[in-house]
Amino acid sequence: MTRAAGLATADGASMEQIWAVYLEKPPRQATGTPRHTLPSPRTLTLTADSADIDRAAALLEGGGLVAFPTETVYGLGADARSGAAVARIYEAKGRPAFNPLIVHVHSAAAARAHVIWSDCAERLSRAFWPGPLTLVLPLGEGHGISPLVTAGLDTLAVRVPAHPAAQALLRAFAGPLAAPSANPSGRISPTTAAHVLAGLGGRIAAVIDDGPCPVGLESTIIGLAGDAPVLLRPGGLSAEAAEAVLKAPLGRAEAAAAPTAPGQLASHYAPAAAVRLNARVARQGEVHLGFGGIGGDLNLSPQGDLAQAAANLFGHLHRLDATGRPIAVAPIPDDGLGRAINDRLRRAAAPRAGPRNGPDRTDAPGRGRQA
Ligand code: TXA
Ligand code: MG
Repeated sequence: MTRAAGLATADGASMEQIWAVYLEKPPRQATGTPRHTLPSPRTLTLTADSADIDRAAALLEGGGLVAFPTETVYGLGADARSGAAVARIYEAKGRPAFNPLIVHVHSAAAARAHVIWSDCAERLSRAFWPGPLTLVLPLGEGHGISPLVTAGLDTLAVRVPAHPAAQALLRAFAGPLAAPSANPSGRISPTTAAHVLAGLGGRIAAVIDDGPCPVGLESTIIGLAGDAPVLLRPGGLSAEAAEAVLKAPLGRAEAAAAPTAPGQLASHYAPAAAVRLNARVARQGEVHLGFGGIGGDLNLSPQGDLAQAAANLFGHLHRLDATGRPIAVAPIPDDGLGRAINDRLRRAAAPRAGPRNGPDRTDAPGRGRQA
């Protein structure tokens, strides 16, 4: 689907006009630092029991931001129908306005209320929902989703997460939740509540702590709005598994001036430290992220299991990044989940302009570091 010129929305209003309704000014472009100070002096840590899930749903109904676990990574949820609530996501993350958000719903039936369904959507959703798969589909008539969610596109990314806490929250809230990964824009995705609090504590209303995310990599994004299905971002579901259900190879997204998925951005998911790939041994001063027989200071999976490596990837990067030393990473096989792991590692290692000054480092506009 097309993106209208100058970030205009599908109904013709410019993104700047829409921002003006919700915020004084749009958040600074391509930066990890928010423009505004949010009125959340303290971020509540909630459990996944039913009283706390109801509390989280009430905070969301009031337009607040609640981070919650999914099987992939922690998401930062807001009511996808409320422009004011969604604006707070962009503000809290310091997220560029042009990067659209995934809408989370509790079931395929709920997803169909917002998009134009298709045969491929039916097959993929039956096979992999709930689970680590996001489908991009044309927006449906009367979709009810705030234009800030799609950031000017006439398509919508939808996903049904499998995590019990995410399911419980979506059912208690009984509406669509826009939820990007719950990290400051451009930083490593969070796989624990502690990661969320380290990045966004004080900027969001609450986080539901239900332990580490089992998959550990963001969802696979498949575009179904064009002539043929396209892999927009490799992720927690292997492309091969989706291709087996579709009985056809997935197209690959072309690099575009206006990115439609983080897979098209050069530098992404980045730690503060420099990252060097395919390193069988560490150099002087480096910390070493191992895999299989290459031990390292921390090992993604001593058994060489790619699913275990995916689950450990962001957590291990967070820990090594905290040492303040450059990170050398052992080679990872490039098949199955290894493709998504290598995709995230390449982005973590991509050259970055601008100063490197830790977690609050900001990045120049147009460098494509989004979350
Ligand atoms: O596993 C996940 O997908 C996690 C959890 C929280 O669900 N979410 C996540 O969201 O990774 P986020 O915002 O960090 O990455 C989603 C990406 C966006 O950066 C955007 O590029 C892409 O999805 N996206 C969203 N809407 C799109 C659309 N209409 N067309 C193409 N890409 C879209
Ligand atoms: Mg993200």
